[in-house]
Amino acid sequence: DWTMENFIDMQTALIREKVGDKKVLLALSGGVDSSVVGVLLHKAIGDQLTCIFVDHGLLRKNEAEQVMNSLGGKFGLNIIKVDAQKRFLDKLAGVTDPEQKRKIIGNEFIYLFNDEAIKLAGEEGIGFLAQGTLYTDVIESGTETAQTIKSHHNVGGLPEEMSFQLIEPLNTLFKDEVRALGTELGMPDAIVWRQPFPGPGLGIRVLGELSEEKLEIVRESDAILREEIANAGLDRDIWQYFTVLPGIRSVGVMGDERTYDYTVGIRAITSIDGMTADFARIPWDVLQHISVRIVNEVEHVNRIVYDVTSKPPATVEWE
Ligand code: XMP
Repeated sequence: DWTMENFIDMQTALIREKVGDKKVLLALSGGVDSSVVGVLLHKAIGDQLTCIFVDHGLLRKNEAEQVMNSLGGKFGLNIIKVDAQKRFLDKLAGVTDPEQKRKIIGNEFIYLFNDEAIKLAGEEGIGFLAQGTLYTDVIESGTETAQTIKSHHNVGGLPEEMSFQLIEPLNTLFKDEVRALGTELGMPDAIVWRQPFPGPGLGIRVLGELSEEKLEIVRESDAILREEIANAGLDRDIWQYFTVLPGIRSVGVMGDERTYDYTVGIRAITSIDGMTADFARIPWDVLQHISVRIVNEVEHVNRIVYDVTSKPPATVEWE
């Protein structure tokens, strides 16, 4: 009969048989799917798996450290971390269009991944590329909706000059089954229950042109929001929650001083699959606490607004 334990035994056996003594490569994003694939493959083939984790500087606060400490440290995955913060920011300088930003981030990501893959391949090559494709991705890539509305950069992107075979051990599972699998594999809730986070990261949460200062405001305000949502016990009920920086500045007053600083937007939604969404009814006192903390703790912010639009007509992200 079908249990998660059986699934793990069956998959590890299948993976070992398929892979033989070849090398396997995985692009690790820190998200649920690629993390579970990583831990599952590591269980099956140990150090024949190499993970590549690109830090594009558009990650959330402490995210890179968490991936390295948890997956690299505790779980012992072999991870190559590519520090490319400056490279991405340089490429994105002056770019304001959301789709253009996505394209640049996606292309740069693929370029860096390929570069590492080529270095690793050496003489013998790399046999396999592992991906965290879910059953729903298999179905959805047949439809156009996901790609035409916004080009989701984590779909596709195989290096062309290298020929790999694909390993997609999650492609018969739904999201809730992937979470159960992660838990069965001993992975912590922080990874298994991580909210969705887009590939372009904070790059599409600072509206318009990026700067270090603006990214810092989003990163810090987002960290406060996440902390307070968790403290309020709402992190499992709200599907996705984050802050955005629209780039508006407005007048405020702090102490005796007049200020002219940024507005931070809070976006929090309930949803089943991200295709439609409703804004989350966060209690006023929780919102107030978040607002006070962000304004007090994050420099250059003097106003907080809450997004009360559903999807449609709005999208989840602001870009
Ligand atoms: P939207 O904004 O299209 O978001 O309503 C729906 C879901 O998709 C995520 N999203 C992305 N994920 N690359 C990704 O990997 C992207 O470019 C991208 N754009 C949106 C969004 O966070 C939400 O979960």
